[in-house]
Amino acid sequence: MKLLVCGGAGFIGSNFVRLRIAESDDQIIVLDKLTYAGRRENLADLDGNPQFLGLQHGAIEDADAVATAVEGVDAIVNFAAETHVDRSIAEPDAFVVTNGQGTYTLLEAARREQLRYVQVSTDEVYGSIDEGSFTEQSPLKPSSPYSATKTGADLLVESYFHTFDLSAAIARGSNNYGPYQYPEKLIPLMILNAMHGDPLPVYGDGLQVRNWLYVEDFGRGIGHVLDHGVAGEAYNVGGPDECTNMEVVRRIIELTGASDDLIEHVTDRPGHDRRYSLASDKLKALGWSPQTGFAEGLESTVNWYRDNPTWWESIRSGDYREYYARQYGRELG
Ligand code: NAD
Ligand code: TYD
Repeated sequence: MKLLVCGGAGFIGSNFVRLRIAESDDQIIVLDKLTYAGRRENLADLDGNPQFLGLQHGAIEDADAVATAVEGVDAIVNFAAETHVDRSIAEPDAFVVTNGQGTYTLLEAARREQLRYVQVSTDEVYGSIDEGSFTEQSPLKPSSPYSATKTGADLLVESYFHTFDLSAAIARGSNNYGPYQYPEKLIPLMILNAMHGDPLPVYGDGLQVRNWLYVEDFGRGIGHVLDHGVAGEAYNVGGPDECTNMEVVRRIIELTGASDDLIEHVTDRPGHDRRYSLASDKLKALGWSPQTGFAEGLESTVNWYRDNPTWWESIRSGDYREYYARQYGRELG
């Protein structure tokens, strides 16, 4: 197959492109706006690989850019999104444009060209759950502007299946972690702060629970939905382990040799979802299962950040400093 991967220069998208090229004969072209979160360096090791057809710089809400990118492709996998909950609380505009208008623009192209379409979505569309796990039948109850725009996108995808018979499916992942994750999200932020002796800002009591999924396991899950998923269906792709944010931070402290004294409880996120948990039996019945436990995956993630300073040095010395000061009310050390 020839795939168009939108948002392939970001964290999960770049890991997916690398994995799919290693594990299939597919050829891949990437369409990416290269926002703060998207970086050419994330795909640099694929330059010259005959299966990697290159990166087209453009936005998914730009119909002309999309029309060029879809020429000759068999399927679209859409990772492109504004993805950080805290940024969606501070400035929701870009979330509505990219996650809403952008998804619509891709769906129109897929409909016109009769392409297979996979939407990469999130457990956050279901909202928070105190006990048990969400199935694909659970009601959609998003809490943040991020998750609300992702929910809107999922509903549009379903409408294109029902109305236009588009061969579209949805992969809803739980919280991902692994190499190449921008350090605004919990795990890479805590790893880099711990390595630098900066405070570790825990929102509220830190007893919120997340269902951690190693990024390669999500990549294989998305590939499974692309290859075997039934059109019109959504598939949960949940990680094998759940733990509280405090447990995550304490493990990172152990792995980096940092001091417990760096932990600082800060003002909680508004509308903070308490717990996410996914039941993934539907995708497991199609033969997928997560391979990497949290202890193993976190250790290799810490090692990756330790071994790749050139990747994060340019981020930590650039615009990220302004974001950090705005979000946390203090300068990065
Ligand atoms: P990311 O923020 O690291 O990357 C997003 C990518 O999309 C970047 O390369 C960025 O440049 C690109 N992009 C943003 N706006 C664009 C636009 N208008 N047009 C084209 N490209 C654009 O995000 P991620 O963590 O890799 O998430 C990828 C997808 O997976 C998202 O759809 C997200 O909702 C979903 N998801 C993420 C997680 C998680 O834990 N990170 C979990 C489940 C699902
Ligand atoms: P995050 O990585 O932003 O993912 P999401 O909000 O999509 O789950 O946050 C994961 C958890 O970590 C969430 O409960 C918020 C918390 N958190 C902190 O306590 N401190 C931080 O600095 C960040 C970024 C997140």
